[in-house]
Amino acid sequence: MSDVFLQHMNLQNNLLLRAAKGEQVERTPVWVMRQAGRVLPEYRATRARAGSFITLVRTPELACEVTLQPVDILGVDAAIIFSDILVIPEAMGLPYEMDEGKGPRFPNTIKTKEDLARLSTTEIEGKLNYVAEALILTKQELNGRVPLIGFAGAPFTLFCYMIEGQGSKEFAKARRMMRENPELAHALLSAISDATIAYLKMQIASGADLIQLFDSWAGVLGPDSYREFSLPYINRILAAIPEVPRTVFAKGAWYAIEDFANSPCETIGLDWTIQPELARKWAGAKTLQGNLDPSVLYGDFASIKKATREMLQKFGTQKHIANLGHGVYPDISPDNLKCFIDTIKEYPNEK
Ligand code: CP3
Repeated sequence: MSDVFLQHMNLQNNLLLRAAKGEQVERTPVWVMRQAGRVLPEYRATRARAGSFITLVRTPELACEVTLQPVDILGVDAAIIFSDILVIPEAMGLPYEMDEGKGPRFPNTIKTKEDLARLSTTEIEGKLNYVAEALILTKQELNGRVPLIGFAGAPFTLFCYMIEGQGSKEFAKARRMMRENPELAHALLSAISDATIAYLKMQIASGADLIQLFDSWAGVLGPDSYREFSLPYINRILAAIPEVPRTVFAKGAWYAIEDFANSPCETIGLDWTIQPELARKWAGAKTLQGNLDPSVLYGDFASIKKATREMLQKFGTQKHIANLGHGVYPDISPDNLKCFIDTIKEYPNEK
């Protein structure tokens, strides 16, 4: 028996892993994207102690502390390691900064093949050793309570930041490079993929029970450009990490669900712009994850419960991992978030 198999057997709550693998579950598991974050006052307190977001990410004890908070406070069925997708560009030689209230920014970007040549795809494990340490520590502290999710950004989303230098509505600079210099674009996407494979293998070796790839900016592409510039790299990464269940979440890319049905992954993450029934039709045998509109959590308890139950009913009781359709917004009340989570955990008894 493999180490990973034994690791999964030893969990007190392995609902998430069973649902991901398409095995029978007694109720739908739930976790929330950005569950470790500003929505929790406890997170804001730890972040204030750390002094900055980047210090929080780089200090294993603090990263572990905020990873555990949603498990203890919200009662979710999984922990997701506290980090950021931008640690990969940083480890490749392109450091990021986090501007308060504005999000990430890269002082240097990739414009030419000389810029690309200066990047490195080696020694990724050493440079991101703090993530390995955070995973090992968190695994110890969880003591088998729930599975631990590892993650990385999909190459296209990281490409967007590395070209554009910051978030953007259209990512026009990044998409311009795809047209003006496709060779350079593909070489960069390939380099990001190599670094990501080394990084995810390290996460699995350090205790990650499931891996999620975030393609947060997939929505700026269309079906054909997605097949050229994103999907092949996602599939290359997924194929390289068969040891654990794999989830791909491509925000805005409902057009790619049929493609993911043939990807080497177990679960397809959905944003809220797709009807569960349609996603089921397109996703074949895969498990689905999602997809409540995060803004529903601004409503009162009755409306949150109603929308959550409707979502559960549409997905059915099997091959579904409940989540929001994207990260929880920081100004949502933790009580409302808890209402969403509790509704899912109580659902089997109420039908
Ligand atoms: O609980 C979890 O989901 C784990 C933690 C996590 C963070 N970032 C912490 C974070 C995860 C999984 C990420 C991934 C990430 N980072 C993505 C993909 C997911 C998505 O949201 O689409 C992206 C695009 C990033 C890049 C990034 N990091 C942005 C755009 C921002 C700014 C967002 C904002 O609201 O200001 C960040 C910073 C960040 N990463 C925060 C957190 C909790 C907020 C920083 C703070 O504490 O002020």
